[in-house]
Amino acid sequence: ELSEKTIQTVKSTVPVLAEHGEAITTHFYQRLLSDHPELKNIFNMTNQMAGRQPRALANAVYAAAQYIDNLSAIEPVLNQIAEKHRSLNVKPEHYPIVGEYLLLAIKEVLGEAATDEVIEAWGEAYGAIAHTFIKVEQEKYQNTSTQEGGWIGYRNFKVIKKVKESDVITSFYLESEDRQSISSFSPGQYITIKATIPGSEYTHLRQYSLSGAPGKSYYRISVKREDGENGQPAGIVSSFLHQQLQEGDVLPITAPAGDFSLNNESSAPVVLISGGVGLTPMLSMLMNMVDQGSERDIYFIHASHNGRVHAFKDDVDQVEKQVSSVQTKVLYSSPTDTDDGYDKHGHIDLDWLKSTVPHDAEFYFCGPEGFMRAVNRSLKDWEVPEEKVRYEFFGPELSLN
Ligand code: HEM
Repeated sequence: ELSEKTIQTVKSTVPVLAEHGEAITTHFYQRLLSDHPELKNIFNMTNQMAGRQPRALANAVYAAAQYIDNLSAIEPVLNQIAEKHRSLNVKPEHYPIVGEYLLLAIKEVLGEAATDEVIEAWGEAYGAIAHTFIKVEQEKYQNTSTQEGGWIGYRNFKVIKKVKESDVITSFYLESEDRQSISSFSPGQYITIKATIPGSEYTHLRQYSLSGAPGKSYYRISVKREDGENGQPAGIVSSFLHQQLQEGDVLPITAPAGDFSLNNESSAPVVLISGGVGLTPMLSMLMNMVDQGSERDIYFIHASHNGRVHAFKDDVDQVEKQVSSVQTKVLYSSPTDTDDGYDKHGHIDLDWLKSTVPHDAEFYFCGPEGFMRAVNRSLKDWEVPEEKVRYEFFGPELSLN
């Protein structure tokens, strides 16, 4: 229990910290990782460099501090982070380490204002936030381990099939090396893979949405090769998976996680909207509904550059042919001469949505950041109720507003 004074002290310093948020956390990470290089095996070093992870963590800490006397008010946010942490195998003993460096950074930014009283208050507040995460995460580890086919931490899976789905996307079919049962999942969920890459000092963890329907003896992920454009380096993990990982190789993974999932309680029409490789969770949802013989009207909408990079075209076309309740629409932003069968509109906006899908549907979307902003904006302008809109970010969650 935090005292009223502690709560007030923390809340009153949140605005100052929020203002310097990224400076704090960027610095914090540099120190944390230089003093504890073993954590480089866990944190995504690419996101560190892009500053995305520091921003996500900073936002979460300030949000939590703002609600320090009522953390249940931000439960969905905490839950989403806890899912990610569970998937990454974050453990209680990590929290004091992170806390120590966060406090150091806060002290530095506040300068003279960082009296003993303020620092003590933040120490207590961090303790309370960490305690909440640890508790929620322990429950998740518990659930994961008691579930049929479930496990805690990393389990070795073998690549039983590697399939090229487009010029840039390749699927990996993963079967447990021990051939024992594997836990089911909700379509929309992801797994973490641990890649050991020749020539790289640390392991690399990455999340990939499961792209197939649940209920199989294997998991499937479908990975876009990040070639590195606009001055960005090529993706170290995606390049490894595409170029080096072969059938028969082993990949350690954690059990499926994530709060983005298909609402199976509802019979409302479903609109699945994806941009680029954001189609992977949507494909899982589509195939799951088809497997279940769902009677819902399903709209599968996919935006892509052109036919060369458009993955799973044949699979989705086939579903549309076989299942009368499924309609698909494809939009190409830069079609090539050989492309056909796509909507000439080129991109998704409000008018296009209005003319294509019903207003009373549930909407799910995933894709690049700009794409997601545009879709979110359109759905807001169309006054689709918030509870009917769900989305997934690849990478640290950013605000869409
Ligand atoms: C991801 C918050 C403690 C490791 C995240 C994200 C947030 C967050 C907001 C991004 C979630 C997303 O991807 O949507 C926090 C807060 C903490 C905390 C508020 C303390 C109260 C820890 C600890 C560890 C950890 C103790 C363990 C070393 C990670 C890792 C990621 C992550 C590895 C994935 C992103 C990346 O690799 O760059 N956390 N976290 N976090 N967190 Fe935490």
